[in-house]
Amino acid sequence: EHCKGVNGLDKVILREIRGCSAEVYLYGGQVTSWKNELGEELLFLSSKATFRPPRAIRGGIPICFPQFGNIGSLEQHGFARNRAWSVDPNPPPFPSNISHRTFIDLILRHSEEDVKIWPHRYECRLRVALGPGGDLMLTSRIRNTNSDGKSFTFTFAYHTHFFVTDISEVRVEGLETLDYLDNLKNRERFTEQGDAIIFESEVDKVYLSTPTKIAILDHERKRTFVLRKDGLPDAVVWNPWDKKAKSMADFGDDEYKHMLCVKAACVEKPITLKPGEEWKGRQEISAVPSSYCSGQ
Ligand code: BG6
Repeated sequence: EHCKGVNGLDKVILREIRGCSAEVYLYGGQVTSWKNELGEELLFLSSKATFRPPRAIRGGIPICFPQFGNIGSLEQHGFARNRAWSVDPNPPPFPSNISHRTFIDLILRHSEEDVKIWPHRYECRLRVALGPGGDLMLTSRIRNTNSDGKSFTFTFAYHTHFFVTDISEVRVEGLETLDYLDNLKNRERFTEQGDAIIFESEVDKVYLSTPTKIAILDHERKRTFVLRKDGLPDAVVWNPWDKKAKSMADFGDDEYKHMLCVKAACVEKPITLKPGEEWKGRQEISAVPSSYCSGQ
């Protein structure tokens, strides 16, 4: 279903037969809403989000490409999150074992303007799909279409903002003993000491080479988000906490209590593509009652 969203921006609504839904803005190729069959919102979207280009929409799942963070010559998190994507009428075939009933394919290509800031030609495809159980699956394919023989290198993240009831009651499992780069300490490398990951202050960490499955436990709501990923070795965990929240114009002062970013990403070892080569990455998230998860 195609319709107009905030400020007349184009959006697509996906609805699954049991009542789950997702909303995707063509601006940024950004998922802004993901609801379960009860109509409960599972993603965080700031009440102060502007929906006004060229600002990125604060919340949902912005796509960070071709640069995650501020390491590199581009603006923070690259430019894909503030470009107008198009519906892709002709996506490449997906493996026959992946059958999505409810999906939309989007594409972003280099514009002549962007070639001035990132001198490469590419096709960046995104499939947003709702699985039969309401899982939200994002699949990206990035192809180097340079005709001058040049390779390009990029980093990437699905900047996923989960809605949580109370951040102080949230625990993340799957990252306990890993190495991470701490963005709050000049990207110095540390190792988690095996304790459960809980939240008591600002956090901005890039966990390296993580397992493919990470769980986010919302104790208060007895709900667990399960994130699965492929082709994206790292995972970024971010919460601005009170002070940083106050300094962000498009983020409510107290909203940090209700959101946690956990993002499938490729940050430490950038991806290089030769002309004609394609990279594929995937993130799948599901929300289940906590009692269904083994050992919790
Ligand atoms: C996170 C970064 O991914 O995004 C943080 O690790 C950053 O350092 C945050 O503050 C938000 O970035 P932005 O550009 O959307 O304000």
